[in-house]
Amino acid sequence: MICRNDRERQGMRAAGRMAAELLRSVGERVRPGISTAELNELTRELMERAGTVSASYHYGPKKNPYPGYACFSLNDIIIHGIPSKDILLRDGDILSVDLAIFYKDFCGDNTATFRVGKVSPSADHLIRGTEEALMAGIQEAVAGHYVNDISAAIEAVARREGYGIVREFVGHGVGREMHEEPQVPNYTLPQRGLKLRPGMSLAIEPMFTLGSADIQNDPDGWTVRTRDHSLAAHVEHTILVTENRPEILTLP
Ligand code: MF3
Ligand code: CO
Repeated sequence: MICRNDRERQGMRAAGRMAAELLRSVGERVRPGISTAELNELTRELMERAGTVSASYHYGPKKNPYPGYACFSLNDIIIHGIPSKDILLRDGDILSVDLAIFYKDFCGDNTATFRVGKVSPSADHLIRGTEEALMAGIQEAVAGHYVNDISAAIEAVARREGYGIVREFVGHGVGREMHEEPQVPNYTLPQRGLKLRPGMSLAIEPMFTLGSADIQNDPDGWTVRTRDHSLAAHVEHTILVTENRPEILTLP
C-alpha cells in the first residue's frame, strides 16, 4: 500500500476538507419534506460551484452506473441509496449521506447519518454508537498498529451496544482512487492485516444496525437494506496515519 509524501498529504488534506464542507452543506438542508432527489440536485450544484467532481456519479458497472452525486440512504437502507423524488424525508427518519469527491487528483470520502426532525431514542443511540465506533477505530490508526486493531475497536463498540455489524461492505484505502488497498473491516479477522505506516490514508466507515445485520439488495442493483428492515447507521472519515496521532482529513 502506498505511503504518501508531504505533497500528496497536502493534496489529501485539500480533498478531505472539500468533501467535509460539501457534506456539511448538504446536511444543513436535511429536514422533513425535502426529497432525496432535491438533496442530490443540491449536491450536484455545490460540487459544480466548488470546482470538484463526484467520485460516486457514474461509478460502477457500465450497464448500471450509480446515478447520484452522493448516496442517500434512508432508515433501513444501509448504503448506496439512489436519490428519488419519491423519497420524501419525514420527521423521525434517519438519513445517511455518503459523499465522495475528487479534488485536484485526490479523493476525499465521508459519510454522516443525519436526524430528520426529532428521532426516537433508539435511532439516536444507534447513530451515537456508530459515531463512537468510528472515533474508536480512528484512534487505533497509529503507525505500528495493524488494520485489525482498527476493526477490533469498532467491533467492541457494536458488541457492547448489541448492534449488528454489516459484513459485506468495509472501509478501504483511499488516495488517487476512491477504493484502494487495504480493506478495513468493521469486525475482526484471525489475521492482523496490514501493518500501518505513516502516510497511509484510509476511509474508516462502520455500518451498524439496530436489528440483524443481514442485508437485502434491491432490484435497482444498488440499494442495500437490512433484511429485517431495522434501522441502519453509517458514518465515515478519511484519515491519514502519521508519525504521531492520526489526522482526520474530512473535517470542514
Ligand atoms: N463513497 C462510498 C464509499 O464509502 C462508495 C460509493 S460508490 C457509489 O466507499 F457508487 F455508490 F456511489
Ligand atoms: Co468509503
